[in-house]
Amino acid sequence: MAIDTPFVELNNGNKMPQVGFGLWKVDNATCADTVYNAIKTGYRLFDGACDYGNEVEAGQGVARAIKDGLVEREDLFIVSKLWNSFHDAEQVEPIVKKQLADWGVDYFDLYYIHFPVSLKYVAPEVRYPPGWFVDGGSKIEHGKASLESTWKALEEVQKKGLAKSIGISNYGGALLLDLFTYATIKPAVLQIEHHPYLVQQDLLTLAKENGIAVTGYSSFGPQSFIECDMKLAADTPLLFDHPVIKKAAEAHGKTPAQVLLRWATQRGVSVIPKSNSQGRLQQNLDVTSFDLTQEEVEEISGLDKNLRFNAPTNYGIPVYNFA
Ligand SMILES: NC(=O)c1ccc[n+]([C@@H]2O[C@H](COP(=O)([O-])OP(=O)(O)OC[C@H]3O[C@@H](n4cnc5c(N)ncnc54)[C@H](OP(=O)(O)O)[C@@H]3O)[C@@H](O)[C@H]2O)c1
Repeated sequence: MAIDTPFVELNNGNKMPQVGFGLWKVDNATCADTVYNAIKTGYRLFDGACDYGNEVEAGQGVARAIKDGLVEREDLFIVSKLWNSFHDAEQVEPIVKKQLADWGVDYFDLYYIHFPVSLKYVAPEVRYPPGWFVDGGSKIEHGKASLESTWKALEEVQKKGLAKSIGISNYGGALLLDLFTYATIKPAVLQIEHHPYLVQQDLLTLAKENGIAVTGYSSFGPQSFIECDMKLAADTPLLFDHPVIKKAAEAHGKTPAQVLLRWATQRGVSVIPKSNSQGRLQQNLDVTSFDLTQEEVEEISGLDKNLRFNAPTNYGIPVYNFA
């Protein structure tokens, strides 16, 4: 039976599911089936991006679910992101339209600026998704688009109905404050890395004070990055193995993954876990049916190390510490 998840009301009145499905590193070969099965299981939000290289396949899963009568388009909350190479204002609308065509839908529910970094334009005919390197190898070339000009282009995307909400990802406090000086449409959602090793209470407070919902990614901390060959320091155990997380899991008869997701949602942060496994995908959706105690929430928050795993420097891109 499909599991229901609660919604968060955004500052423009739109409703966003509190738990969604992340599409980064979802294999192309299985992506359509994974999305279809996720919809069958109860997922309604899909967190995609140009950079994940699987928007066509994700859209095929959506189309099949609609065709089979599992859902209608309006039941879904489809999210995508603007890649760094498309920050120039005149490139924004064309690439949004290409991404919509890839998904096979005519609007996104939410469209983010993926990173606050402008890279030199690479035409989709040359390479898609373009990735970080202008030559597809190892050469970084920065673009000339200011974040203000890119945000204004996203505002136009929303005004034209191509996205119902717009947001930013990987912005820290200073960039948010700067954005408030020029935005005529406030971002609806801020998407950031968020887990017990990177608690970011100040940033959550700033977002809340300004009516911006927060979605946390990489809720399991290092788990997603060891797949990318990242090495962990000896004093940084996997969160699934951490005694504090395991203790809470045992106390509630839940898995460590469910504890990590519940810790986030109890802090007011929406989550978008990714899994290539049907069993784990199902378990990750069932994370709002129990409550951690206040003491448990605080003990888990106490694991904070201000440790960021999604820093491009950690995977060989030498120049950014964007948050
Ligand atoms: N805005 C950004 O810059 C940004 C950056 C990173 C991620 N994101 C978004 O956030 C989503 C989630 O983040 P993420 O993909 O980094 O990582 P994540 O969801 O924190 O972790 C995924 C890892 O955890 C494993 N896993 C999933 N559920 C599990 C469970 N119940 N028990 C044990 N292991 C489990 C997965 O393996 P299996 O697949 O084998 O289950 C995978 O190794 C992404 O897919 C993407 O949509 C956004």
